[in-house]
Amino acid sequence: MSFPVVRMRRLRKDENLRRLVRETGLSVNDLILPLFVCPGKNVRNEIKSMPGNYQLSVDELVKECTEVRDLQIPGVILFGIPEKKDELGSEAYSDNGIIQRAVRAVREKVPGLLVITDVCMCEYTSHGHCGVIKNGSVDNDATLVFLAKEALSHAKAGADIIAPSDMMDGRVGAIRRVLDENGFDDTPIMAYSAKYASSFYGPFRDAAESPPKFGDRKGYQMDPGNGAEALREVELDIKEGADIVMVKPALSYLDIIYRVKNAFSMPVAAYNVSGEFSCVKAAARNGWIDGDRVMMEILYSIKRAGADIILTYFAKDAARLLGS
Ligand code: PBG
Repeated sequence: MSFPVVRMRRLRKDENLRRLVRETGLSVNDLILPLFVCPGKNVRNEIKSMPGNYQLSVDELVKECTEVRDLQIPGVILFGIPEKKDELGSEAYSDNGIIQRAVRAVREKVPGLLVITDVCMCEYTSHGHCGVIKNGSVDNDATLVFLAKEALSHAKAGADIIAPSDMMDGRVGAIRRVLDENGFDDTPIMAYSAKYASSFYGPFRDAAESPPKFGDRKGYQMDPGNGAEALREVELDIKEGADIVMVKPALSYLDIIYRVKNAFSMPVAAYNVSGEFSCVKAAARNGWIDGDRVMMEILYSIKRAGADIILTYFAKDAARLLGS
């Protein structure tokens, strides 16, 4: 027998062969598009640091969501930019707040699309932190009360899934309890379980106008050096009633996605965050990389690591390429 008998290249020589042996599937079913909703009418403000993404008034949001549904993308996650911010983020849990109005409109006008709401206070507070400030830092237990109120008002407005992103201890349990007590025992929670204090959130904070006015989020979001701690965070959220657990960001944390998927038999979501998106767009605009191919390679890597669901600003572009 002449060397080599085994030739790995045999199965790579043709696209149909490659399709047959491709280990990882990527489909439009895996994608969720994040969208930003703001006050006003006919507003469609492009976010400079996130090309192709907009702050949308409710009427424009409805149009966008119709397009998303027609692309067969299963759902959107909504972030609100309130009329005015205050110390306690009161628009976050007002039944007539921006998100509550947006959810009602999308549920009414765009049937067949899942509406997920991000539950956090940073977009609504004047100081930009994810909770109530006491003595210069975020008070965990005082914040839980507000997060639970916010989640309940989202559920009442018709949110299909509640997604807390604040990283307070005990918030999944607090939200689960309030939802159950009010007849929303069927509303799932997608918990941002392993959410890191990441600089990849930069463009999002432009979009949501939510950077902290003092300090940073390192006192509640996870330290990028930690891995085992992510498993403890996920385990706690599962015990408190999370239905889907999330790792965020995705790309610098593919090892965490892999570990979480292997450790727990849970649906795992990964958030391919704003900075990860913007880096690709910027390089593609400069002609330094092929943006579409890099996008697909990134989405495959997140699936290969073990994510079932990908929240990504690429969702519409990817859906078009995937031929939905
Ligand atoms: C709110 C929240 C943030 C993101 C999602 N929810 C920002 C933050 O924690 O500062 C970031 C998403 C992205 O960068 O795309 N807490």
